[in-house]
Amino acid sequence: MKFFIDTANLAQIKEAADLGVLDGVTTNPSLMAKEGIKGKDNILKHYVDICHIVDGDVSAEVIATDFKGIVEEGEMLASLHENIVVKVPMIKDGVKALRYFTDKGIRTNCTLVFSPGQALLAAKAGATYVSPFIGRIDDVSSDGIQLIADMRLIYDNYGFETQILAASIRHAMHIIDCARLGADVATCPLSAILDLLKHPLTDIGLEKFLADAKK
Ligand code: E4P
Repeated sequence: MKFFIDTANLAQIKEAADLGVLDGVTTNPSLMAKEGIKGKDNILKHYVDICHIVDGDVSAEVIATDFKGIVEEGEMLASLHENIVVKVPMIKDGVKALRYFTDKGIRTNCTLVFSPGQALLAAKAGATYVSPFIGRIDDVSSDGIQLIADMRLIYDNYGFETQILAASIRHAMHIIDCARLGADVATCPLSAILDLLKHPLTDIGLEKFLADAKK
């Protein structure tokens, strides 16, 4: 399973990369705004800065919602760095653009996926990654993890190479559940990755070993 970090915060990206378990980064307009990155030039520079920290795929999201605009913006983003993956929303023109980018050899991440039907459509269009938002599904009292199971079944039934990029992860158990079900990637806040470290018996055991080592 690949681990991506779901942030535009350079310090957190560096901390995860230094841990030696980071395979990539996902961003979105909200995460960029949270870091106070404003204006086209600053946003583009920020993507390049991220690419210099982590040697892996970095998703950069288009803002356009029409086919022509998505294609123009996506091609510009893809030209910034070889690690950029163009993030495209699950809308009609987005699906058309996924097919266009796929045929051009530009890698894509289809975002805002909430149903098996959307996931099937994105894979048919050749998306490199598809991002089911499991936390947001849980937020509306539905079952985000079930969508991962449905996607794994559908993609395996037909041999789709599209990778399941579990997104909107809220906690460590989401990561474990996604790993059990065979999601290819989990994109997580740094806190969820670090929470995987935790177990009270580890703390108790280490405390005892250190105390005994002094004897
Ligand atoms: C990642 O690609 C998504 O944009 C992100 O995981 C959404 O997470 P959120 O639901 O916590 O905003």
